[in-house]
Amino acid sequence: MKNILITGGAGFIGSHVVRLFVNKYPEYNIVNLDKLTYAGNLANLRDIEDRPNYKFVRADICDYDEMRRIIEENQIDGIIHLAAESHVDRSILDPFTFARTNVMGTLALLQAAKLYWESRPEGFEGKLFYHISTDEVYGALELTDPEGIESPFTTTASSSEHHLAFGREFFLETTKYNPHSPYSASKASSDHFVRAYHDTYGMPTLVTNCSNNYGPYQFPEKLIPLFINNIRKRKPLPVYGKGENVRDWLFVEDHARAIDLIFHKGKPAQTYNIGGFNEWKNIDLIRVIIKTVDRLLGNPEGYSDELITYVTDRKGHDMRYAIDSRKLQAELGWEPSLQFEEGIEKTVRWYLDNQEWIDNITSGDYEKYYDNMYSNR
Ligand code: NAD
Ligand code: DAU
Repeated sequence: MKNILITGGAGFIGSHVVRLFVNKYPEYNIVNLDKLTYAGNLANLRDIEDRPNYKFVRADICDYDEMRRIIEENQIDGIIHLAAESHVDRSILDPFTFARTNVMGTLALLQAAKLYWESRPEGFEGKLFYHISTDEVYGALELTDPEGIESPFTTTASSSEHHLAFGREFFLETTKYNPHSPYSASKASSDHFVRAYHDTYGMPTLVTNCSNNYGPYQFPEKLIPLFINNIRKRKPLPVYGKGENVRDWLFVEDHARAIDLIFHKGKPAQTYNIGGFNEWKNIDLIRVIIKTVDRLLGNPEGYSDELITYVTDRKGHDMRYAIDSRKLQAELGWEPSLQFEEGIEKTVRWYLDNQEWIDNITSGDYEKYYDNMYSNR
């Protein structure tokens, strides 16, 4: 494959995937297609924007004619589809935008790829539509006694044993979809469309479902960068409900490595779960963040604990997500590369060293939106 379209490449995960592909595969032409919504930021890709194998195209995936034109003009062989509305809280306020982008946009891209590939003499041969999805489509798990659960990874993602799991059940590739938020419902719907294009038209497609990512370049409305930034600015840290919800955290570069591996070696029509066996209760994670930020800023230990503010819970807040990624490990040999504490240290340092990046995107409209949302909690 030579010409690869990456959608949503100006966003958080997309920018890591674009960087990895542009650096690792000089023989590929990488086209980054992004609408540049509030979440898209070309500053995420400054280091690679002048490379000869990289091109940026500003477009909306919902614009079907544009998708047809861009795919044909660039003779696209493979698509890695990350463009989406991705924030659960926003989906609760504005579900229509999520249905439009995540469902109709994915469908427009699927159909545009299908028509172009079918028009080629080789048809679907050597082509791939790879859709990036989330563990949230599987619903929520309960908190139960996790005794006896061990990480399958030789390098566990966390060095602290008690963070391994908060229950015995995990999401498998075969777990029935049961989405609860407008965001996860829209992602579930797009996943179904992608599989339908394989089952109906024989188009080579792949879906992966990943757990919570963290790391550099994440928009600071998501828990980890929001809290790092609020500690720096001495703003309240809004903990939803009792802070007991559990998320399974993976360093974003490990997700990008998994995407690279699956794009090249994954079997079409398959689903792979991606996660690090690294579960944390929100409140425990928040304490680690506070401790790390305070240490790196030279504050005394416990200095920012007073910023913790319990607020009204997120509507329909899923209790626990936990991904079983042993299929990916067994079939393709993927493992997370970082221990969680290392990943958090790296992440906190990056946000503290890149205050201009964060100040640029949190000024103006976003600040108003955030203050308004927070004052309503
Ligand atoms: P993000 O919100 O940081 O980035 C999304 C990107 O998509 C932005 O650059 C935005 O401009 C672009 N975009 C949005 N609407 C568009 C449209 N209509 N046309 C073209 N571009 C558009 O998201 P992220 O956190 O990087 O997530 C990327 C993908 O990975 C999403 O599909 C998300 O569902 C999935 N995912 C995210 C996580 C996570 O923890 N962040 C975990 C698992 C899966
Ligand atoms: O699981 C994968 C998903 O992870 C992705 O599909 C989504 O795109 C991504 O946004 C993320 O969803 P979450 O809702 O889990 O992430 P978020 O950072 O918004 O919240 C993480 C947890 O922290 C969640 O339990 C809600 C809680 N939270 C979040 C915010 C923003 C708070 O307590 N306070 C907050 O201010």
